[in-house]
This record gives sequence, structure tokens and C-alpha cells, in this order.
Amino acid sequence: MARHLRNLLDLSANELQRVIDLGKEVKANPSAYRKKLDGKSIAVVFAKQSTRTRVSFEVGCYQLGAQPLILTADGNVGMQMGRGETIADTARVLSRYVDAIVIRTTAQSIVDELAEYGSVPVINALTDEFHPCQALADVMTMQERFGREERRKLVYVGAGNNVAHSLLLAGPRANLDVVCACPPDLQPDPVVMTRVRQDAKAAGTLVSVEHDLMAAVKGAHAVYTDTWVSMGQDEKANALRAKLDGYSITGKVMEQAREDAIFLHCLPAHRGEEVLDEVMDSRWSAVFDQAENRLHAQKALLLLLLEAEPW
Ligand code: CP
Ligand code: NVA
Repeated sequence: MARHLRNLLDLSANELQRVIDLGKEVKANPSAYRKKLDGKSIAVVFAKQSTRTRVSFEVGCYQLGAQPLILTADGNVGMQMGRGETIADTARVLSRYVDAIVIRTTAQSIVDELAEYGSVPVINALTDEFHPCQALADVMTMQERFGREERRKLVYVGAGNNVAHSLLLAGPRANLDVVCACPPDLQPDPVVMTRVRQDAKAAGTLVSVEHDLMAAVKGAHAVYTDTWVSMGQDEKANALRAKLDGYSITGKVMEQAREDAIFLHCLPAHRGEEVLDEVMDSRWSAVFDQAENRLHAQKALLLLLLEAEPW
């Protein structure tokens, strides 16, 4: 049975740490992994825009010796899925050609269905609900800055969206206390929260949802934010901006956090909206290390899911 990364529920705490540890090794010694996926082909499918995910997967495959096939999910030159070929048939067909499927799409159910009907690993490269590859790079960045033994506090500020959900799920798996600071009517999905609360209780980490930004960031090791308007939400853009007004990350917000706190953002950033230049370009900012870590963490993930390295 192929193993997948549909969301972070596919990884135990030990497995998540294995991805991070291998990511650190790959980062330190990339040439040792140059031929590990020699002869493999990996479909990387996009139904939404991307800079980091597309480039990091394409370059990552190349660096491991695999062939990346960058595919567009729909449109005039896209896959037949865009003209009604079923997800299940697409999964069965791709599985006859490629060794893994990476996909960025709308509904999580599309990723789940590909995994159900295909026979190769499926990796979620962002859906409306989750962004697990991002969370892997985020945990790696936190560990590079603060080590991994002690519990750390990460405060996510913004809408309870795909990035928030994956960070919340990462918390109990990576020894992180996670606070989601959001407006009352942009809270994370209650189903996700129920699972996160169970996992946090079992792992001995803390999780909470708060609405007072300044209070939430007190004592944070990392303050994290994301765009106020996610892909596919353009029609709601004005309403979202109105609700999130007051949740921008400014220098004053960062000053509430620990002295050695870092600022994280999955990027792309909308400077002047969810974060100001005074933070993006400051000593707090770790956003470009974080972006780089997408490459290393995803290479590790591919090596493990394609069984080129042992779990
Ligand atoms: N953070 C992230 O996934 O960036 P892209 O949308 O550019 O891939
Ligand atoms: N929440 C954002 C993340 C982009 C990487 C979106 O879904 O557009």
C-alpha cells in the first residue's frame, strides 16, 4: 500500500520528526541524495497558482534524480480532469505512468480520492483545507532556530484557513503549543479543532483559539501569519479584509513576543496588509529560510514516501 501525505494526520509524531531530520540531512549534504530517485517520474499537478511549491518540487525532483512532470489541472492546455474525466480514472491512469502524484487543488476530497483510487503516493501541495508541506517546512524552521527538545509557542494570526489547520495539526506532533489568533467569525474548522484538541491532550501540548492579538502573542517563540484572502476567495475579499482589520503583524505586535522571537509567513506576503515591511524586513523575519526549507523538507518527504530512505 502506498503511503500518502493527504494531511498531517498521515504522519505520527515520530514520522513527522523523521521527515524533519532527513530534511536537515538533505540540506546539509545534498550531493549524498543526488541519484536516490534516479529513473522515477513525479507528476506535480496545479489547479491553483504557485511560486514556491512549483519551483521547490520541480527543483527538488531534479536534485534527487527524478523527472518532474509539471501539469496544469484544467484550462485549454490542462489535463482532461478539466473536461470531466473523473478523479478516480485520473488516479488509475497516472499510477500506470508515474511514481508519485503531488497536487495543489481546491477541495481536499480530490486529494483523498486520488489517494484512494491510485496506487502511488499522493502528496497534498495545498487544498482549501490543508497545506501540510508548508507545515513541514515551518516545523523545520522552528527547530533550526529553537532546537526540538523543549516545548515552544507558535502563534498563528489570521483566518482559520488551510495554513492554520496544518499548523494546528503540527502542534501536538512537533511539541509546539499553538495559538490561533483570529476574528470570532473566521475560526478554524470545528472538526479539525476537535481532532487537534484530542491530539494535544495526548501529546501534552497546548492549543487555543483567541481573539485578542496583543494578548495572544505574549511569550511567543514564533508569530506566523498568512494572506487575508486565500486563492479562490476573491469574491469575499472585501469582507475578509474588513474582518481581519486590526490583525496586521507590526513591530509593536512582535515586541509583545519573546526577545528572540521569529516572524514566519508561508508567503506570498501582502506587505501593508497582514504584515508590514518593518516586520518582513526586520531581524525577526525568518521567512526566506522558511521558504528555502520547503525544498529540503519536500525532498525528504519524497525520499521517504518513495521508499528510497527508511522511515
Ligand atoms: N507558500 C506557498 O505554498 O507558496 P506558493 O503558493 O507560491 O506555492
Ligand atoms: N492560505 C493561502 C496560502 C497560500 C500559500 C491560500 O490558500 O491561498
